[in-house]
Amino acid sequence: MDRETAFWDKLADRYSRRPVADEAAYQKKLEATRQYFQPDMEVLEIGCGTGSTAIAHAPYVRHIRATDLSTRMVEIAKAKAKAADIGNVTFETLSVDALDVPDASIDVVMAHSILHLLENKDQVIADIHQMLKPGGVFVSNTACIGDMMLALRLIIPVGRFLRLFPLVKVFSVAELQDSLVTAGFEIDYEWQPKKSAPAFIICRKPALTK
Ligand SMILES: C[S@@+](CC[C@H](N)C(=O)[O-])C[C@H]1O[C@@H](n2cnc3c(N)ncnc32)[C@H](O)[C@@H]1O
Repeated sequence: MDRETAFWDKLADRYSRRPVADEAAYQKKLEATRQYFQPDMEVLEIGCGTGSTAIAHAPYVRHIRATDLSTRMVEIAKAKAKAADIGNVTFETLSVDALDVPDASIDVVMAHSILHLLENKDQVIADIHQMLKPGGVFVSNTACIGDMMLALRLIIPVGRFLRLFPLVKVFSVAELQDSLVTAGFEIDYEWQPKKSAPAFIICRKPALTK
């Protein structure tokens, strides 16, 4: 098992018991995302964790394929979906690098608190663009540590060295926006409740024009 998988497997049970940091902001993001849903939509989530967001959105779409690197996160997510009697979410243990999705086949991709944890964020964003249908939507919520206090940025390599942190990449909101636009997305909605909060961005793959 690699170091990232071991880290998230070990954290999973504690993570599932942890309350959402800002419930009002979380609800606002769920509501903003639902403005883009239609009942016949196919949704993919990467880094779904213990499944709360997929379960919350399930009644609004046809199907959600929710994936995560960690077997334990996925086990907890499956148990939560069963307890909530949610039948249209398929949870899979799968690294984002191993996703094999036909081009232009997905309506909405969600990536909550994961882009900053990836070695190759720009490649993943490009892959997401490719798997979305024209007019498809990419919803992301990302800790942009490049905009945070220097002290916090300095803690990361120390925490990583001590094996207290997972892989964490440092970039700013402007750099993330640049990555999305470079991949071909048009940014449709952005919200960051405060500078230290994650950047919530909804962007769209342009629809085909005649
Ligand atoms: C901070 S948690 C966020 C979980 C959930 N999306 C949420 O918002 O609560 C990050 C999640 O990303 C997963 N993860 C990290 N690297 C990944 C990768 N390369 N592929 C898929 N999932 C990954 C971890 O296992 C963990 O569940």
